[in-house]
Amino acid sequence: MTEWTNDTAIQRWGTIPRDALQATAHDGDFAKRHLINPVLLRMLGDLQGQRVLDAGCGNGYLSRILARRGAQIVGVEPGQSQFEFAVEQETSAPQGIQYVQADLCALPDLGAPFDAVVSSMVLPAVPDWTGAMRACVQALKPGGLFVFTVNHPCYEQLWPTWRQHGEYRTARYLAEYEIPGPSGVDFHRTIATYLNQLISLGCHLTELAEPGLTPQLAENGPDGIDAYTHLPNFLIAAARRAA
Ligand SMILES: C[S@@+](CC[C@H](N)C(=O)[O-])C[C@H]1O[C@@H](n2cnc3c(N)ncnc32)[C@H](O)[C@@H]1O
Repeated sequence: MTEWTNDTAIQRWGTIPRDALQATAHDGDFAKRHLINPVLLRMLGDLQGQRVLDAGCGNGYLSRILARRGAQIVGVEPGQSQFEFAVEQETSAPQGIQYVQADLCALPDLGAPFDAVVSSMVLPAVPDWTGAMRACVQALKPGGLFVFTVNHPCYEQLWPTWRQHGEYRTARYLAEYEIPGPSGVDFHRTIATYLNQLISLGCHLTELAEPGLTPQLAENGPDGIDAYTHLPNFLIAAARRAA
Protein backbone atom coordinates (compact mmCIF):
# COMPACT_ATOMS: atom_id res chain seq x y z
CA MET A 1 0.00 0.00 0.00
CA THR A 2 1.32 3.51 -0.86
CA GLU A 3 2.43 5.52 2.18
CA TRP A 4 0.01 8.40 1.94
CA THR A 5 0.38 11.63 3.88
CA ASN A 6 -2.25 14.34 4.08
CA ASP A 7 -0.14 16.42 1.67
CA THR A 8 0.17 13.75 -1.02
CA ALA A 9 -3.55 12.95 -0.76
CA ILE A 10 -4.44 16.66 -1.01
CA GLN A 11 -2.25 17.06 -4.11
CA ARG A 12 -4.27 14.30 -5.82
CA TRP A 13 -7.63 15.75 -4.73
CA GLY A 14 -6.58 19.19 -5.93
CA THR A 15 -6.47 18.06 -9.57
CA ILE A 16 -10.23 17.59 -10.06
CA PRO A 17 -10.93 19.18 -13.47
CA ARG A 18 -13.01 22.31 -13.72
CA ASP A 19 -15.81 20.72 -15.78
CA ALA A 20 -16.34 18.10 -13.04
CA LEU A 21 -16.49 20.82 -10.38
CA GLN A 22 -18.89 22.85 -12.51
CA ALA A 23 -21.19 19.85 -13.12
CA THR A 24 -21.90 19.49 -9.39
CA ALA A 25 -21.64 23.16 -8.41
CA HIS A 26 -25.36 23.73 -7.80
CA ASP A 27 -26.41 20.87 -5.54
CA GLY A 28 -23.94 18.03 -5.99
CA ASP A 29 -24.36 14.84 -8.01
CA PHE A 30 -27.44 12.59 -8.21
CA ALA A 31 -26.59 10.70 -5.01
CA LYS A 32 -25.86 13.84 -3.02
CA ARG A 33 -29.01 15.52 -4.27
CA HIS A 34 -31.31 12.67 -3.28
CA LEU A 35 -29.55 10.92 -0.42
CA ILE A 36 -27.09 13.21 1.37
CA ASN A 37 -28.40 16.77 1.09
CA PRO A 38 -31.90 16.15 2.49
CA VAL A 39 -30.52 14.30 5.53
CA LEU A 40 -27.79 16.88 6.20
CA LEU A 41 -30.26 19.74 5.97
CA ARG A 42 -32.69 18.02 8.32
CA MET A 43 -29.95 17.18 10.84
CA LEU A 44 -28.49 20.71 10.73
CA GLY A 45 -31.95 22.22 11.29
CA ASP A 46 -32.62 25.95 11.40
CA LEU A 47 -29.38 27.65 10.35
CA GLN A 48 -30.48 31.28 10.48
CA GLY A 49 -27.59 33.27 11.99
CA GLN A 50 -25.65 30.11 12.84
CA ARG A 51 -21.90 30.02 12.34
CA VAL A 52 -21.12 26.86 10.36
CA LEU A 53 -17.83 25.29 9.25
CA ASP A 54 -17.97 23.24 6.03
CA ALA A 55 -14.89 21.12 6.66
CA GLY A 56 -13.46 19.93 3.33
CA CYS A 57 -15.97 21.89 1.26
CA GLY A 58 -14.74 20.82 -2.21
CA ASN A 59 -16.34 23.01 -4.89
CA GLY A 60 -18.42 24.70 -2.17
CA TYR A 61 -21.84 23.49 -3.30
CA LEU A 62 -22.98 22.69 0.25
CA SER A 63 -21.52 25.93 1.63
CA ARG A 64 -23.64 27.86 -0.88
CA ILE A 65 -26.80 25.89 0.00
CA LEU A 66 -26.22 26.50 3.72
CA ALA A 67 -25.50 30.21 3.16
CA ARG A 68 -28.83 30.52 1.29
CA ARG A 69 -30.46 29.20 4.49
CA GLY A 70 -29.03 32.06 6.52
CA ALA A 71 -25.86 30.47 7.93
CA GLN A 72 -22.54 32.31 8.21
CA ILE A 73 -20.22 29.90 6.45
CA VAL A 74 -16.51 29.24 6.57
CA GLY A 75 -15.52 26.66 3.96
CA VAL A 76 -12.16 24.97 4.44
CA GLU A 77 -10.70 23.22 1.41
CA PRO A 78 -7.02 22.37 0.77
CA GLY A 79 -7.34 21.09 -2.82
CA GLN A 80 -6.10 23.68 -5.31
CA SER A 81 -8.70 23.32 -8.07
CA GLN A 82 -11.66 23.07 -5.64
CA PHE A 83 -10.51 26.03 -3.57
CA GLU A 84 -10.00 28.24 -6.64
CA PHE A 85 -13.40 27.20 -8.02
CA ALA A 86 -15.20 27.92 -4.73
CA VAL A 87 -13.57 31.35 -4.43
CA GLU A 88 -14.54 32.15 -8.03
CA GLN A 89 -18.18 31.30 -7.26
CA GLU A 90 -18.12 33.60 -4.25
CA THR A 91 -16.54 36.40 -6.27
CA SER A 92 -19.11 36.17 -9.07
CA ALA A 93 -22.16 35.79 -6.78
CA PRO A 94 -21.21 36.88 -3.24
CA GLN A 95 -22.97 35.19 -0.32
CA GLY A 96 -20.57 36.23 2.42
CA ILE A 97 -18.83 32.83 2.48
CA GLN A 98 -15.22 32.84 3.65
CA TYR A 99 -13.15 30.16 1.95
CA VAL A 100 -9.87 29.12 3.56
CA GLN A 101 -7.31 26.91 1.85
CA ALA A 102 -6.07 24.56 4.57
CA ASP A 103 -5.63 20.99 5.74
CA LEU A 104 -8.08 20.26 8.57
CA CYS A 105 -5.11 18.96 10.56
CA ALA A 106 -3.32 22.33 10.31
CA LEU A 107 -6.10 24.89 10.59
CA PRO A 108 -5.29 28.58 10.93
CA ASP A 109 -7.31 30.60 13.43
CA LEU A 110 -10.86 30.62 12.03
CA GLY A 111 -12.25 33.04 14.61
CA ALA A 112 -15.03 32.28 17.06
CA PRO A 113 -16.09 28.69 17.66
CA PHE A 114 -18.82 27.26 15.42
CA ASP A 115 -22.41 26.34 16.21
CA ALA A 116 -22.13 23.45 13.74
CA VAL A 117 -19.49 21.68 11.70
CA VAL A 118 -20.41 19.64 8.65
CA SER A 119 -17.92 17.41 6.88
CA SER A 120 -19.36 15.53 3.95
CA MET A 121 -17.38 12.69 2.35
CA VAL A 122 -14.12 14.11 3.70
CA LEU A 123 -12.91 11.83 6.52
CA PRO A 124 -12.41 8.85 4.15
CA ALA A 125 -10.20 11.12 1.99
CA VAL A 126 -7.80 12.02 4.79
CA PRO A 127 -4.86 9.79 5.80
CA ASP A 128 -4.72 11.44 9.26
CA TRP A 129 -8.49 11.24 9.66
CA THR A 130 -8.33 11.13 13.48
CA GLY A 131 -6.57 14.52 13.42
CA ALA A 132 -9.20 15.83 11.00
CA MET A 133 -12.10 14.61 13.15
CA ARG A 134 -10.46 16.10 16.26
CA ALA A 135 -10.12 19.46 14.48
CA CYS A 136 -13.82 19.39 13.53
CA VAL A 137 -14.89 18.73 17.12
CA GLN A 138 -12.46 21.29 18.58
CA ALA A 139 -13.83 23.95 16.22
CA LEU A 140 -17.26 23.61 17.89
CA LYS A 141 -18.77 25.49 20.79
CA PRO A 142 -19.52 23.26 23.77
CA GLY A 143 -22.75 21.45 22.86
CA GLY A 144 -22.22 22.27 19.15
CA LEU A 145 -23.41 19.93 16.39
CA PHE A 146 -21.05 17.81 14.29
CA VAL A 147 -22.49 16.10 11.21
CA PHE A 148 -20.40 13.94 8.91
CA THR A 149 -20.99 11.61 6.01
CA VAL A 150 -18.88 8.75 4.66
CA ASN A 151 -19.41 6.10 2.02
CA HIS A 152 -21.15 3.32 3.94
CA PRO A 153 -18.22 1.16 5.17
CA CYS A 154 -20.24 -2.07 4.69
CA TYR A 155 -20.97 -1.28 1.03
CA GLU A 156 -17.89 0.42 -0.41
CA GLN A 157 -18.11 0.86 -4.19
CA LEU A 158 -21.71 -0.31 -4.13
CA TRP A 159 -22.74 1.08 -7.48
CA PRO A 160 -19.88 -0.33 -9.65
CA THR A 161 -20.09 -3.70 -7.86
CA TRP A 162 -23.86 -3.87 -8.42
CA ARG A 163 -23.50 -2.95 -12.09
CA GLN A 164 -20.97 -5.74 -12.54
CA HIS A 165 -22.71 -8.52 -10.59
CA GLY A 166 -26.34 -7.46 -10.13
CA GLU A 167 -25.75 -7.72 -6.38
CA TYR A 168 -23.28 -6.43 -3.80
CA ARG A 169 -20.13 -8.46 -3.21
CA THR A 170 -17.15 -7.89 -0.96
CA ALA A 171 -14.41 -9.98 0.58
CA ARG A 172 -13.06 -7.47 3.04
CA TYR A 173 -14.21 -5.19 5.81
CA LEU A 174 -11.93 -5.29 8.83
CA ALA A 175 -8.65 -4.04 7.37
CA GLU A 176 -8.07 -0.48 6.13
CA TYR A 177 -7.62 -0.36 2.35
CA GLU A 178 -7.29 2.25 -0.40
CA ILE A 179 -10.05 3.06 -2.86
CA PRO A 180 -8.47 4.95 -5.77
CA GLY A 181 -10.74 7.37 -7.61
CA PRO A 182 -10.22 9.38 -10.81
CA SER A 183 -8.84 12.43 -8.97
CA GLY A 184 -8.42 11.38 -5.37
CA VAL A 185 -8.02 8.45 -3.05
CA ASP A 186 -10.34 7.30 -0.26
CA PHE A 187 -9.58 4.91 2.57
CA HIS A 188 -11.95 2.25 3.85
CA ARG A 189 -12.34 2.14 7.62
CA THR A 190 -14.91 0.29 9.70
CA ILE A 191 -18.00 1.84 11.25
CA ALA A 192 -16.65 1.11 14.74
CA THR A 193 -13.40 2.91 13.87
CA TYR A 194 -15.26 6.13 13.06
CA LEU A 195 -17.75 5.96 15.91
CA ASN A 196 -15.26 4.98 18.60
CA GLN A 197 -13.10 7.97 17.66
CA LEU A 198 -16.15 10.21 17.95
CA ILE A 199 -16.84 8.78 21.41
CA SER A 200 -13.21 9.20 22.46
CA LEU A 201 -13.49 12.90 21.54
CA GLY A 202 -16.28 13.23 24.12
CA CYS A 203 -19.11 13.52 21.58
CA HIS A 204 -22.63 12.20 22.09
CA LEU A 205 -23.99 10.47 19.02
CA THR A 206 -27.52 11.72 18.42
CA GLU A 207 -28.45 10.07 15.12
CA LEU A 208 -27.19 7.67 12.46
CA ALA A 209 -28.81 7.64 9.02
CA GLU A 210 -28.48 5.12 6.16
CA PRO A 211 -30.65 6.75 3.50
CA GLY A 212 -32.06 4.74 0.59
CA LEU A 213 -33.43 5.79 -2.78
CA THR A 214 -37.11 5.40 -3.63
CA PRO A 215 -37.77 3.10 -6.63
CA GLN A 216 -39.37 6.07 -8.46
CA LEU A 217 -36.18 8.13 -8.20
CA ALA A 218 -34.01 5.16 -9.15
CA GLU A 219 -36.02 4.76 -12.39
CA ASN A 220 -34.86 8.21 -13.52
CA GLY A 221 -31.28 7.81 -12.31
CA PRO A 222 -28.18 6.45 -13.97
CA ASP A 223 -27.79 2.78 -14.91
CA GLY A 224 -27.43 0.44 -11.91
CA ILE A 225 -28.52 3.04 -9.37
CA ASP A 226 -31.34 0.72 -8.21
CA ALA A 227 -28.59 -0.70 -5.92
CA TYR A 228 -29.30 2.34 -3.75
CA THR A 229 -32.92 1.27 -3.21
CA HIS A 230 -31.74 -2.01 -1.65
CA LEU A 231 -28.54 -1.06 0.18
CA PRO A 232 -27.32 2.20 1.75
CA ASN A 233 -24.47 3.90 -0.06
CA PHE A 234 -23.89 6.44 2.72
CA LEU A 235 -23.59 6.51 6.48
CA ILE A 236 -24.45 9.88 8.02
CA ALA A 237 -23.79 10.66 11.68
CA ALA A 238 -24.88 13.54 13.90
CA ALA A 239 -23.23 14.15 17.26
CA ARG A 240 -22.95 16.87 19.90
CA ARG A 241 -19.72 18.07 21.44
CA ALA A 242 -19.84 17.69 25.20
CA ALA A 243 -21.37 20.80 26.80
C1 LIG B 1 -15.15 13.54 -1.93
S1 LIG B 1 -14.60 15.20 -1.77
C2 LIG B 1 -16.00 15.93 -0.90
C3 LIG B 1 -16.07 17.43 -1.08
C4 LIG B 1 -17.34 18.08 -0.54
N1 LIG B 1 -17.43 18.00 0.90
C5 LIG B 1 -18.56 17.52 -1.20
O1 LIG B 1 -19.35 16.86 -0.53
O2 LIG B 1 -18.72 17.75 -2.42
C6 LIG B 1 -13.35 15.07 -0.52
C7 LIG B 1 -12.74 16.42 -0.19
O3 LIG B 1 -11.88 16.29 0.96
C8 LIG B 1 -10.83 17.19 0.75
N2 LIG B 1 -9.70 16.84 1.64
C9 LIG B 1 -8.76 15.89 1.46
N3 LIG B 1 -7.85 15.93 2.45
C10 LIG B 1 -8.24 16.93 3.29
C11 LIG B 1 -7.70 17.47 4.49
N4 LIG B 1 -6.58 16.98 5.05
N5 LIG B 1 -8.34 18.51 5.06
C12 LIG B 1 -9.48 19.00 4.51
N6 LIG B 1 -10.04 18.52 3.38
C13 LIG B 1 -9.42 17.50 2.78
C14 LIG B 1 -10.50 17.01 -0.71
O4 LIG B 1 -9.67 18.03 -1.21
C15 LIG B 1 -11.89 16.97 -1.33
O5 LIG B 1 -12.34 18.24 -1.66
